[in-house]
Amino acid sequence: MSTDWLRDAVIYEIYPQSFADSDGDGIGDLRGAIDRLDHLQWLGVDTIWFNPLFASPFADAGYDVADYLRVAPRYGTNDDLVELVAKARERGIRVLLDLVVGHTSIEHPWFQAELNADGPSPEGDRYVWADDPPLRDTSGDIPGTAAWVRSPGPRPGWYLKNFYDAQPALNFGWGSLPDDEPWRDAVDAPGPRRNRESLQEILDYWLSRGVSGFRVDMAFSLVKDDPGHVQAIALWREIRAWLDEHHPEAVLLPEGPEPRTDGSLAFSADFFLVIFQAHASLFDSGFAGRLPFHEPMEPFFDARGLGTTEIFLRHWDAARDADPQRPIIMASADHDYDRLRCGPRTPEQLGAAWTFLLTWGSIPSIYYGDEIGMRYLPGMPDVEGAICNPAYNRAGCRTPMQWDDGANAGFSSAAAASLYLPVDDAPDGPTVAAQRDDPGSTLNLVRRLIALRRDVPVLGGRASTDVVHGGYPFAYLRGGTHLVVVNPRQQPASLTTGIAAAAEILLGEGCTVSPSDAGIELHLEGFGYAVLALQTQ
Ligand code: BGC
Repeated sequence: MSTDWLRDAVIYEIYPQSFADSDGDGIGDLRGAIDRLDHLQWLGVDTIWFNPLFASPFADAGYDVADYLRVAPRYGTNDDLVELVAKARERGIRVLLDLVVGHTSIEHPWFQAELNADGPSPEGDRYVWADDPPLRDTSGDIPGTAAWVRSPGPRPGWYLKNFYDAQPALNFGWGSLPDDEPWRDAVDAPGPRRNRESLQEILDYWLSRGVSGFRVDMAFSLVKDDPGHVQAIALWREIRAWLDEHHPEAVLLPEGPEPRTDGSLAFSADFFLVIFQAHASLFDSGFAGRLPFHEPMEPFFDARGLGTTEIFLRHWDAARDADPQRPIIMASADHDYDRLRCGPRTPEQLGAAWTFLLTWGSIPSIYYGDEIGMRYLPGMPDVEGAICNPAYNRAGCRTPMQWDDGANAGFSSAAAASLYLPVDDAPDGPTVAAQRDDPGSTLNLVRRLIALRRDVPVLGGRASTDVVHGGYPFAYLRGGTHLVVVNPRQQPASLTTGIAAAAEILLGEGCTVSPSDAGIELHLEGFGYAVLALQTQ
């Protein structure tokens, strides 16, 4: 399989609504993104992941697709996407799209056809319909999110949704088929088979146009009531086998760690997103809110210094033990939660986080704007389903990219009131332009760390990662030759490493190193960080 390129990738997630608006309608678009490819090249990232770009009524920011084969007109045309993919490739940048295939929009013609029929489709239903609201809990991966909605007619009965009511679940069949719920289809029934075929067609369509793969939304909940996700994984294995034959370089990235079943892995990586405790335990202060299954905890990367790396390391070790070579993607943040900079966090606190994210043995995924320390903005309006419940607001991490000190921070020429979401109006709000000229900026630190990761391959996604100290300061060895140390708390922290070597600081702030008989001694000021090359004597 030649998806090996992923192990050296540095991903950059673009929420298209908010990245760059070229036509002045207040919403980002593909032409705007094309115009900003230079920024990404300068930064050093080599893989873009776009949130959904497809035709949609945007009840859930495009995670409600009405046509998988058509770019939403507000973003441009399919040709624009093809042009973007080609221009990105000229700069050594690949493009990944978001595949939201567990459900569609209610406006998708597939759903409209079944909604307007008076009974099951003779070719097999693409959606899950039942005459009476079923009694069993059919929740998928995300507790409480899968539920039944009364048909708005003419089709009688109820349909299964995945997230919002406007997102009916596609029918990929069921893992168990109890006699008293005859409406459940087996995974190889005609309806699920039609959907599998369509899934392959969608992949083929975009991969044939130069796209390098997909981040797959809710990938493991395609098959319902599927203990251990065995059937869902079998489906994805089938897709992987087909990709290996037709698009061998294409990657599929899941939303989270891939459940381990017997046999080969279907996805190209595990993904530690904020939604998962492993990531949340490091970074999430809960400023965007919490889902019911998120345990509140003090994140490790926080000034108070009350967190722990234990949970993260447990998940990391489990994934590494299961497959030592597997890429594990670790996001700075994403479109569903806090940003790296949220609540009272200041820019000086970000250095430790970035040093970790860009030198740990994972594949980094940088959420747009995090590279300049854009803030999570509380109290943003409910745009396109951003507010899931009163205590959980995703809009604060979806505000427009701050490019320069022009109108709307250079994001758009529209009137401020017509913007997708308000721009951060803090007088000291970070911008790309200001930070490019400032050698001490977050932006230049991120750029230097990416460049260092490329210059020193053991800092990348392939070499070993060995924890030297899991508390404050957090210290780990990469490839046995480089030591990274970060102190995310305000209070200083010291460590005697037991490593007998001379050490040269390649990049750092607030770190002093002194050799001693007991091994290298490190002293970190509050929020200090350093990457050191070791020379064993
Ligand atoms: C996406 C969310 C979306 C949900 C439903 C998640 O994987 O990240 O933004 O609302 O799926 O599609």
